[in-house]
Amino acid sequence: MLRQQGTPLKSILCTFVFSLFISLMGIKGWASSSFYSSTSSSSVKNDKSVTILRTSYQTIFSHLHRTDITPGAVIASPSTNQPNYFYHWVRDAGLTMMELVSLYQLPLPPEKRSLIESYIQAWINFEIQNQNTALKTSNLGEPIFTVTGEIYPYPWGRPQNDGPAIRAITMTLFAFELIKQNRLTEAKRLYRSELPAVSPIKKDLEFTSLHWQEPSFDLWEEVKGDHFFTKMAQRTALLLGAKLAQTLNDHAASSFYLNKAKELEPSLQKHLNSARNIIVPTRNPIGGWKGKDSELDSATILALLYFSLGDGFFDLQDSFALQTAAALEITFSQIYSINLQTKIPDHTLSPGIGRYPEDVYNGSGFSEGNPWFITTNAFAEYYCRLANQNPRGPYAIQFRAKAQGFLNRVLVHSNTQGQMYEQFNRYDGYMQGADNLTWSYVSYLRAYRSCQSTAQYQKLISQIMTTL
Ligand code: NOJ
Ligand code: NOJ
Repeated sequence: MLRQQGTPLKSILCTFVFSLFISLMGIKGWASSSFYSSTSSSSVKNDKSVTILRTSYQTIFSHLHRTDITPGAVIASPSTNQPNYFYHWVRDAGLTMMELVSLYQLPLPPEKRSLIESYIQAWINFEIQNQNTALKTSNLGEPIFTVTGEIYPYPWGRPQNDGPAIRAITMTLFAFELIKQNRLTEAKRLYRSELPAVSPIKKDLEFTSLHWQEPSFDLWEEVKGDHFFTKMAQRTALLLGAKLAQTLNDHAASSFYLNKAKELEPSLQKHLNSARNIIVPTRNPIGGWKGKDSELDSATILALLYFSLGDGFFDLQDSFALQTAAALEITFSQIYSINLQTKIPDHTLSPGIGRYPEDVYNGSGFSEGNPWFITTNAFAEYYCRLANQNPRGPYAIQFRAKAQGFLNRVLVHSNTQGQMYEQFNRYDGYMQGADNLTWSYVSYLRAYRSCQSTAQYQKLISQIMTTL
């Protein structure tokens, strides 16, 4: 620090002002009065965590409700330049709709439920069209479509075989919801036994069954090989699909998908590095980027959060999962200098979490990687879900505190309107990369949902929904 000559008092004051400045640096949009977590609805108005919640819904809905895209397209971000994310990624869209399906299951006013259902139905119709388009010249691993449903026309890391699996999972969850409502004919539009497949879930399940062994690009679109994230998605798609097939009396297919899931499991187990007690993201790389030598990647935690079925096969609380999360946290806390700040007045900050330590993608080009909202929110979700699994267990309080620290981190680096971009800068904490990234909001909704009691969450959502 630069000290000017002066009276001791002046220099004390100077130190104080400077440290205040430091402590507010990069804190775009943060205001202490609006920071506190709500415990009662009276504080809702001034609570930044609720501001982000509202912004998340508002933004996701506004992305779905545009006149310049085909209904059902889910833009990754409105950004059309540096980077141009004004496209429909099958993965981002499937994960967004997964969250809408869970919202749809809440007791909401009927007009809100039908609005949400109309978004889900539009997405299904758009994906049916995308599947057919892809099958004409390519395959179902096509990762990106234009907002009017053409295949992304440029060279890209393709195929990305997590896409069809995620799409199948979300459609299957929705099909179960339709069955619950006795809307069998509509459920059968999503899954029919007919082969070659004519229904969208069956198409993705057949593709997954026949191609899971093939290498594809990872969710970060950089490395071609066998990925934990992709295969976890595939296993879950096949298992949920087997259950749906069974429910709809397609028994032969049900056992076929079940067998395929079992066949795939040993390859997932090979991602365990028992010496380090961690899950490694990629095996047998055959193309794309090299040099991810740490073999630490938040994608493994995302995979557990999105796809683990709690059936004893890669559960959240498994020791290698805990160890992977811990190793990632330590690594990111060391390489991103914003993480040196671990406190703001009255609040603790957990570190901002990036994709993987060797990352150099800065959101529009290449220099150095940064922490992302998706992954930082995911760590909040992870620790809340661990705490929820064993609420009276010895670690529940610690897990919740850690999770709150990750949420605080996100509250600090989002702006006053509660907006989130893709990344926040590792040095000054300002947001960068694609603005209003749909997936960032989805990741916040997931974290928030896991970190609140069900009653509190439902109450808040109902309040917010009536204002949207
Ligand atoms: C854009 C991708 O979406 C991002 O994940 C990747 O890091 C860069 N392109 C480089 O391939
Ligand atoms: C880059 C990310 O790496 C990838 O996972 C994502 O699908 C696209 N951006 C679109 O958000």
